[in-house]
Amino acid sequence: MAVRDPATLSSRPTVFTARLMLRGWHVGDASAALAVYGHDAVTRWLSPAMDRVPDLGAMRLLLQQWIAETAGMALPAGRWAIQRRSDGHVIGGAILLPLPPGREDLEIGWQLHPDTWGHGYASEATYALAAWAFEYDVDELFAVVRPGNTRAAATVRRNGMHWVGETSKYFGLTLQAFRLRSADLDQAAPSAHLPPNFGAS
Ligand SMILES: CC(C)(COP(=O)(O)OP(=O)(O)OC[C@H]1O[C@@H](n2cnc3c(N)ncnc32)[C@H](O)[C@@H]1OP(=O)(O)O)[C@@H](O)C(=O)NCCC(=O)NCCS
Repeated sequence: MAVRDPATLSSRPTVFTARLMLRGWHVGDASAALAVYGHDAVTRWLSPAMDRVPDLGAMRLLLQQWIAETAGMALPAGRWAIQRRSDGHVIGGAILLPLPPGREDLEIGWQLHPDTWGHGYASEATYALAAWAFEYDVDELFAVVRPGNTRAAATVRRNGMHWVGETSKYFGLTLQAFRLRSADLDQAAPSAHLPPNFGAS
């Protein structure tokens, strides 16, 4: 379910799942966001697209930038805060962003605080965000995963994303690319395969 959130400047619909609320970021989320984006266990998989955020001031500036960027993007692209509905905690973020260099492919991605891994939150967010995105003029979404990021690879596989191959066209880095089409959301049992020796890096 998606509804407009008048409290956010980003003008993105808020997407609800059973346990989560995906909504636009607020600068007031800086502490919770820093716990995620200041955490090495998270950002080691995000660079060079994003470095570890060093402090609260830098996080506030980054959130301002994200809010402004999101407001200027064509739907369905944007950045969302992931808020747990049971306690209201912001536990991470999700993105739908055009991939460089061509900005034609739309990337889906998530960053969760490590304390919240292993509860299916990324998968729940993926399904809801993808289903919402496919209501727009989007046929497919991509996840790009660094070799060795076995948690992210498991998440894409769990959500029925299909491995399309290794690529270095994004960010100048060798990455595994996975694709999700709207029909993939209908599959109860994901059948995507990982590349050989994926977790061995
Ligand atoms: C990638 C990332 C978001 C995955 O988080 P996650 O919690 O492992 O992902 P999922 O939502 O798919 O959860 C799956 C786990 O929750 C468990 N789970 C519990 N309840 C569940 C439910 N209701 N539904 C699905 N899975 C559930 C699964 O069994 C699985 O456990 P396991 O890891 O012990 O096998 C997280 O590791 C992260 O933020 N990493 C750093 C940033 C990053 O790499 N981002 C991706 C860049 S491409």
